[in-house]
Amino acid sequence: MVSAKCFEGLVREFQGRTHRSRKVAERARRVLPGGETRSITYYSPYPVSITSASGPVITDCDGNSYLDILNNYTSLVHGHAFGPVVATAIAAAREGIVYPAPHEAQLDLAEHLSERHPTAEKVRFTNSGTEAALLAIRIAQAVTGRDRFVLFEGGYHGSAPLISGPHSQVIRVPFNDGAAVEEALDDSIAAVLFEPCLGVGGVIPADPGFVRTLRSQTHRVGALLITDEVQTLRASYGGATEVYGLEADLVIMAKLIGGGYPIGAVGGPAKHLRILDQSAPGAITHSGTFNGHLVSARAGLTALEHLSRSAIGNMNASTEKLADRIEMSGRAHGLPVIVTRFGSMMHVHLQEMKPTQAAHVTPNSTDTAALHLALLLEGIFAAPRGLVALSTVLTDVHLESIATGYDRAFARMAAG
Ligand SMILES: Cc1ncc(COP(=O)(O)O)c(C=O)c1O
Repeated sequence: MVSAKCFEGLVREFQGRTHRSRKVAERARRVLPGGETRSITYYSPYPVSITSASGPVITDCDGNSYLDILNNYTSLVHGHAFGPVVATAIAAAREGIVYPAPHEAQLDLAEHLSERHPTAEKVRFTNSGTEAALLAIRIAQAVTGRDRFVLFEGGYHGSAPLISGPHSQVIRVPFNDGAAVEEALDDSIAAVLFEPCLGVGGVIPADPGFVRTLRSQTHRVGALLITDEVQTLRASYGGATEVYGLEADLVIMAKLIGGGYPIGAVGGPAKHLRILDQSAPGAITHSGTFNGHLVSARAGLTALEHLSRSAIGNMNASTEKLADRIEMSGRAHGLPVIVTRFGSMMHVHLQEMKPTQAAHVTPNSTDTAALHLALLLEGIFAAPRGLVALSTVLTDVHLESIATGYDRAFARMAAG
């Protein structure tokens, strides 16, 4: 779709206004492998280096500012430096930063999650979503006495080897394919771990019938059903579990529940989480120096308290309108644009077919990279691969600028 000449022009224009970012990238390459700390945040020719961010606006070291529609991959649900979160985080730091003992901030957050999420009767904190996924699998293995588990193509639960690559204990099946799940499940399977909407896999929501099949088939073989709500919690007050009316066995959460600070959590009924009760015989050991960190717990609770049903409803409605406008404007420029959406997350795909499985998503291409660079040039900060996650602090004026930014980016691409 995008010619080599058009792409080179975008790169040149990007380089022309990011001289300092280029220097930072050169310095980074000397000390960080690939100049990065997260594979996913890298893009060519080099990522812009951010120096400050406030509300929906981030500013790079060359003084360019961008409307942030990625929000640290869904975690900053109220944008950057959200006043109430900053105030609670500073207060928590002044109270000692972190303790090697329980504290009430952990209980406050756990009680809130338990009240909010249908699966989370009890909660165990970790430092990240990756750790929460690994812990949930350990719990399922201990509860069932089985080793193997099912994951989905295009699903992402973190970059630990057990859950990210091929592994002897893992069976990967196509998403939204009930028959494949039925075939994969037998009495050697401890659990099925799934995202109700593939997040970084392209914002592909689960079909409600598929979710029902997951529940009935896991019941059939006595496996646990683990819901990964690390991203989808933002879709509804009780997450995607509430949207689908699902009765899952365990849930993992992370990202927004820390208000922008590192955190993860496993929620589940007492009958499953008692395996973590260190005073009971046969308990599994689970520690982590920063589990239930004071600053993360306080900041997370503050962020969640501001994420009311109406705040979520407004954010979802804005996302729906924006998704329609982006799709229409892409088409008006003669480009194949499909926007998939779940709550306040969406993914802008440059392809004709609406994806319902990971295999339907066109792999990263020059077109995807061109759209990302064109958006940066128009002052819009989205994920290099197309993920968008809005925040509660975007006003109608911001939303208009985002729609216009996409339109102008598409115009650049269509001009060839
Ligand atoms: C759905 C999902 N689960 C788990 C994770 C891993 O979380 P973390 O990056 O906090 O380890 C991610 C991260 O992007 C995610 O999107």
